[in-house]
Amino acid sequence: MDVYKERNHFFVTKTHSVIKKFSLSPVTAVAHSNIAMIKYWGKRSVEYNLPAVGSISLTLDALHTRTTLQFSDTLKEDQLILNDQDASATALKRLSDFLDTAAGNSDRPKAKVISENNFPTGAGLASSASGFAALALAAGKAMGQSLSDEALSRLARMGSGSAARSIYGGFSEMQLGTKDDGSEDFAVPLQDENYWDVRLLVAVTSDEKKELGSTEGMLRTAKTAPYYEHWVSSHPNDLREMRQAIADKDFEKTGELTEHSCFKMHGLAMAAKPPILYWNAATTETIHRVWILRKNGIPAYVTIDAGPQVKILCLPESVEAVKSALSEIDGVRSVIEAKPGPGAYIMETVNETII
Ligand code: DP6
Repeated sequence: MDVYKERNHFFVTKTHSVIKKFSLSPVTAVAHSNIAMIKYWGKRSVEYNLPAVGSISLTLDALHTRTTLQFSDTLKEDQLILNDQDASATALKRLSDFLDTAAGNSDRPKAKVISENNFPTGAGLASSASGFAALALAAGKAMGQSLSDEALSRLARMGSGSAARSIYGGFSEMQLGTKDDGSEDFAVPLQDENYWDVRLLVAVTSDEKKELGSTEGMLRTAKTAPYYEHWVSSHPNDLREMRQAIADKDFEKTGELTEHSCFKMHGLAMAAKPPILYWNAATTETIHRVWILRKNGIPAYVTIDAGPQVKILCLPESVEAVKSALSEIDGVRSVIEAKPGPGAYIMETVNETII
């Protein structure tokens, strides 16, 4: 690798005649988290992080990650500060692997990355979705590439499958490709954040980091759960129905499909060996409360990811009734109200050095 500096602003590498120009200026990106309404659970390739099933999600305005990345010609190792603390060795390795992938190989300057979530990390609120979407944007820009949304989504997917969907605002769909290299596995937008004013209330039942990450949970499920093949083979139909329900703005159908996909995924995970159960007592109590609300004529539906928080999909006119029911549950520590949120973006105005 030949390395030389150009007027102190760029770090240029040349490998096999390919010249890459890394900006040494900081780049800041923001991405919002998303909640899957038709769930992704299972991989067809671990190497390229290719999902075994497609998924449909809603990007949320209230939950976001803000990430600043700066390449340096003096740093010896990558550095990651996550929510004001040095990140764990595992998180740092995931960052370094991601940056190697984004750069095309490990011949790259090291980077310092500062990332902040405005919500609890690793507790099933999709921090990896917003985290890797923001990182994909920041890394792409700092590497001097002008990437399409499709390319950004593909890159984000390599960090975390759900991150592919956070490139877009509103409703988006992760589609499956047919190629082994993952070049066709990226998300596409379905409807933007102004399309449908639905609400998602997050009932936070724990701030603790989950014990089993989604990657490990998926791998165990695929290996040991007896209904895994059926989960994969029945998925296209769930996706087709959800696409139609969103296109029709059919709230009841959208809610029913959302709940169905959630319980289908969790039932599958519970059938793994050893069983995977992400819920706590308050998770279960919240599910029952929401079902009581529905019996009483309030259209509200639950969904749960790889953690104990319950997300309740409802319409703006039902928000107060749902919040009031949640306030009666002891184990619900707080409630975050979210609307459809925007796609990931670069903050052009922030350019303070972080090194
Ligand atoms: C339950 O995207 O975190 O939230 O690709 O291994 O990083 P990796 O998994 P991740 O899994 C998300 C699982 C889910 C459902 C979903 O968001 O679709």
